[in-house]
Formats: sequence, C-alpha cells, structure tokens
Amino acid sequence: MTQLLEVSGLTKRFGGLVAVKDMHVSIASGEILGLIGPNGSGKSTVMKLIMGIEKPNTGSVLIDGVEVAGWPSHKIARQGVGIVFQHSRPLHRQTVLENIKLALLPDSLLQLFAAAHIDERAREIAARVHLDHVMDRLPGTLPFADLRRLELARAIARNPKVVLVDEPFAGLTAPEVADFSNLIASFRTDGHAVLLVDHNVRGVAALVDRVQAMYLGEHITEGSAEQVMANETVRRVYLGGSLTHAARRAPDAASTDDLLKVSHVSVFYGKAQALDAVSLHVRRGEFVSVVGLNGAGKTTLFNAISGLVPMQGQVNFGGQSLDGQTGAQIARAGIVQCPESRELFGEMSVRENLDLGGHHLPRTEAAERLEWLLDLFPILRARATQAARTLSGGEQQMLTIARALMMKPKLLILDEPTLGLAPVILEQLSKALEILRQTTDITVLLGEQNVTFALPHADRVYVLEHGRFIWEGPPDRFATEAGAQFL
Ligand SMILES: Nc1ncnc2c1ncn2[C@@H]1O[C@H](COP(=O)(O)OP(=O)(O)OP(=O)(O)O)[C@@H](O)[C@H]1O
Ligand SMILES: [Mg+2]
Repeated sequence: MTQLLEVSGLTKRFGGLVAVKDMHVSIASGEILGLIGPNGSGKSTVMKLIMGIEKPNTGSVLIDGVEVAGWPSHKIARQGVGIVFQHSRPLHRQTVLENIKLALLPDSLLQLFAAAHIDERAREIAARVHLDHVMDRLPGTLPFADLRRLELARAIARNPKVVLVDEPFAGLTAPEVADFSNLIASFRTDGHAVLLVDHNVRGVAALVDRVQAMYLGEHITEGSAEQVMANETVRRVYLGGSLTHAARRAPDAASTDDLLKVSHVSVFYGKAQALDAVSLHVRRGEFVSVVGLNGAGKTTLFNAISGLVPMQGQVNFGGQSLDGQTGAQIARAGIVQCPESRELFGEMSVRENLDLGGHHLPRTEAAERLEWLLDLFPILRARATQAARTLSGGEQQMLTIARALMMKPKLLILDEPTLGLAPVILEQLSKALEILRQTTDITVLLGEQNVTFALPHADRVYVLEHGRFIWEGPPDRFATEAGAQFL
C-alpha cells in the first residue's frame, strides 16, 4: 500500500503555546483515518499545517512521496491536497453548478476554454452529492446541509489525493450524517486518503478504518475505533462517562407563574414563513427544551424573543410586553441568548470578553462568577490572554456560553450549545446547568436537535417542525409520542 500522506515530527508553536507537538500521521491510498481529541487539542491545526494554511515550525509532510512542508497553500493544493472546511466558503455570486465547475478548473483563465465535458462532469458531481435539484441556485439560498454538500462537491471536483475533512457532521441530523458518510466513503473507493475530524464519535467510528487520538497537541494512541475508545486516557480527557439523567426537581417546585409567554408569533423572511403563529410559555425556574431539526425554526423563534428579527404576535417577559423594545433593551431586561447575533469580540482576549459579560455585576460577584466559569471550562483559564478569534471552534463555543452565563441572565436561551463540543465538555456543561438550576433561580430555554442533551434536563419539551409546534409534553413521554425522527 502506498502512503499518500506521511507526516512526521510536525510541530507548531503560537507564541508560548505548542499547539501541535511532534505529531505523526500516515494514511494509505483508500484509507480513512479519524483524528479525535478534545477541543483545542490541535486537530484543525494539524489540517492547516498539512494544507499550508499555517507554516509548521518543524516537521515533514509528504504527499505521495513529495515533501511539501512550508510550501504555500496553493502549491500544496496543486500537489493534491484538498480541505473541506468546518464552515462552507462557496463563491456567493456563482450558482451551485458554476461553483463546481470552477473547482474543476481552478485556474480562472481556463474557464474561457470550458468545454462541454466540464459541464457534464460538474452535473455528474452535483448528482453524486444530491444537489442536482438546486444546480441553478445561489449558495446563499441553500439550506445548511446543502451548503455542506456543495463544499464536498467542490472537493470531489478538485480530485485531491489527500482529502482533509473538518467536522463534516456538526449540525447535521442522523440521516444526513449517514448520507455524508456514504459520500466521504466514496473518496475511499476512489483510492484517496482521507483525514476526518469530528466530535460525533458514533459517526466517526462507523466510517473510519483507523482512529488516532491526540491531546494537548500530542499523539496519545491509535488503532481500531474500538481500541481507541477503550483507551484509558481517551476516556478521561475526551469521552467522559455518558450523560446521565439528572435528578429533576419535582414539577411543583417550579412556580406556576410564567416568566416568558410567547403568543401567536409569526416571522416571515420575504415571502417564506419561518414561524407560523407559535405559542409557548416558560415558568419561572423551569427548564424547557425546544427540539427540532435543522431549519425547523428554532433560531428564528429565539431571535424573535430576543428582538433580533421583525415578527407578528406577542412576547411577554415577567408580565411586561416586549412590544417595540430593541434587542439591547430586551438583553438588559435579563434575556440572554447564546449564541446571539452579537458575536465574540475577536480582537479581545478571552478574559476581556468574559469581563464585558459581567461588567454590570458588583465586583465581588463578577469575580466569583468568573472563577466558577473558569473552573467549569479550564481550557478558557489556560487561554485567558489569547485573542478570541484565534480560539479553536469548540473553545469559541465554550467562551460564548461562559460569557452568556457571566451576564447572570434571568432567562438563558441556549441555541444548540452542543455544536462542536467534545463529549466530555458536554458532560461538564450538563452538570453545570444542573448546579445552576439547583442553586439559583435561573430559567432556561434550550434549542437542540441532540435529544440526548436536551431531554435529561428538561421539565417540559416542545417539538418544532416547519415553523410550528407539533408536540408538547414531559420528557418521559417524548420517546413514545414524538421521538421517532430524533432517536
Ligand atoms: N493563531 C493562533 N494563535 C494562538 N493560539 C492558537 C492559534 N490558532 C490556534 N490556537 C490554539 O491552538 C490550540 C489548537 O487549536 P485547534 O483549532 O487545532 O484545536 P481543535 O483540536 O481543532 O479543537 P476543536 O475541536 O475545538 O475544533 C487551541 O487551544 C487554540 O486556541
Ligand atoms: Mg477544530
């Protein structure tokens, strides 16, 4: 077997931080290697170093026997390396089909000579990733999963020997994960070498030939998915135990008075109706989960509550109508949405972002809260002085959640907090939410498609589908009455 990718002694320092240390990775033609590790362990950096997006301090990267370490990214691409990003980056003025054609002919001059067979090949690829029904649309109008498909289509078109895929499953539903797995598996059939990173452990285990685990920039172990998942260190730093059903307070412990009352709220984006007269209430101290797939309307609902999109209908908070209030006024009234449209301040440090969240609190209280949050997310303590924009995907997610908690919300709205987080972090977050509920009067509204996270905490669950609630009830009735498409 030829090794298409052979990485050795790879090291990358960012100032005092060694993000990747003496790593080795080796992938044969027709092989899929899964790279797992906790948030911030260096997985995306390894990919960026192979692709030449970051320059290694030391180490060797052989692509089909050719040393490319230190080369500029475009030359490495020409040597046969392709990356499928965590976030899609299509050309937004070109249609889906044009985007695929451009990937087939990366040199723009060649477009002038684009022959009929290019068009035909682009259509074939579109069909292969199931984008044939949207070929003439602009990427901006596509749903999330289709954007990810387009990113895969462009990678297929460039026909790289080595394919790097970073978190392809994040935000996808179980059937979509299965569909994507098949597409990624087709790289194997075509004899490419694939490096796959994702926190969906089951999705990774089902797809890969071999797994390698890293922690703090270093290699820990490798072997079959089963062997690696059974490894003591991997369990401790990455997998954790499984989420357990927390002891819920008796329902009557929550007050009967509604903190939040949403009545007949509708939202339109142009002609498309994203929410159709939805009504929901959340009692003081209650934990309510809104379960819904991609595009069901969860974020739109939360944005309507937070005053971030125009809507029809009524929202009451603490007995007051929020009619005519701005997003800033609603936030000051105690509704904190996470993630919200006001993202992290990228140039500011982790610590500064957190301090901003707590600036309205008395100083001792802010200091205590900060300590508590840094204990909860130890990696944020270690990265306290680092600029937020340079954090790993999962670290940014943790900082967003921590900043929301710093604000000491009356109502905390968590919109898909599980996205991009390692299993062990989910477990910590889960425990923290339980402690918060037992020791404070916080009220939580959670939006999730990951029901293993959404159900254990919930006092009540709503199921949202195509902008409407189709079910409401206690979590123990969810599985039998509403769970089919989620479990
Ligand atoms: N430009 C940079 N400057 C300073 N530190 C950086 C920079 N880029 C990355 N880091 C740090 O290097 C570490 C590794 O980051 P990387 O993005 O590779 O993690 P990851 O394993 O992909 O994590 P995740 O699972 O959260 O995506 C992180 O702790 C991150 O904060
Ligand atoms: Mg990453």
